[in-house]
Amino acid sequence: MNPIDSANITAQTRVFVCCDLDVPIRNGRIDETYRLEAVLPTLLYLKQFTKNIIIAGHLGKPKGQVVPELSTQILKPFFDEHLGSGNYELMENLRFDPREETNDPEYARELASKADIYVNEIFSTSHRKHASIIGIPRLIPSFAGKRLILEVETLKKAVENPKKPLVAIIGGAKVESKLPVINKFLRISDAVLIGGKLGMEWKQSIPDNMFMPKDYLEDNKDIGPETVKGFAAIIQTAKTIIWAGPMGAYEEEKYAGGTRSIAEAIVSSPAFKIAGGGDTLAALNKFGYLERFDFVSTGGGAMLEFIAKGTLPGLEALDYHG
Ligand code: 3PG
Repeated sequence: MNPIDSANITAQTRVFVCCDLDVPIRNGRIDETYRLEAVLPTLLYLKQFTKNIIIAGHLGKPKGQVVPELSTQILKPFFDEHLGSGNYELMENLRFDPREETNDPEYARELASKADIYVNEIFSTSHRKHASIIGIPRLIPSFAGKRLILEVETLKKAVENPKKPLVAIIGGAKVESKLPVINKFLRISDAVLIGGKLGMEWKQSIPDNMFMPKDYLEDNKDIGPETVKGFAAIIQTAKTIIWAGPMGAYEEEKYAGGTRSIAEAIVSSPAFKIAGGGDTLAALNKFGYLERFDFVSTGGGAMLEFIAKGTLPGLEALDYHG
């Protein structure tokens, strides 16, 4: 995996930067900018050499359709403010085209033909085998963005020899990206606490170190007080904590209590603390707890898969060998 600093970039070089743009949007405005701020060091580095910077990525899950509320145009004021208007091109949401998610070779070629080099600055989606993640880097010289390298190095170090007990807390709405990694977490963790939709959709047997919610609030949209008490007691014993995915529908205040209480239990622990994922960091931002973590990964599903497998398809496309 070659770092972007090793690329030879001139004023003529066209750079396709696949960026983590998937931030929460509320009423047509950016609700939380952590992921966008995380891509700025690479973009500002590139801007020293060239104005041919193509910023591309996805927002939400438009599923191959044009969904105006998920247009990347919403992000333009942010990039204008930080990079200056005219210093970059912002592509429309790549997932408006169904060929992105199927990694269509023709689409990858179309995207690659826009640039001379490719930069992966999208750790959070590097577990997806999409055209912009694994298709383009096989076609033109490819580099790892600064944040991508920070994510990989920090997470690798944190889980190589974690201080035990290690407690993993896994929740959130994106069940399909989390189910496959739970078994690995059960092997490396002293306790795995399950919340969110995952708690309701787990159909397999429950090993001794796996803790499911004991109770839920009405509508099943948040964990209940018994669960919070039990989880908080386990969290207190931890020396390393890894958290991905809120406990309930934290966006609505009446269902934010479980996620807030778990966040409080984590930040008041002296353990080494890592959190990750778009919703988790939006919740932590809402509670004012972002700075109280040792590391906040931009990736949720991607962070868990990287910890579980030691690699990701998007990293392999950059020739990452662990
Ligand atoms: C995320 O929010 O974790 C990334 O943007 C990946 O999104 P996806 O689950 O829609 O692929």
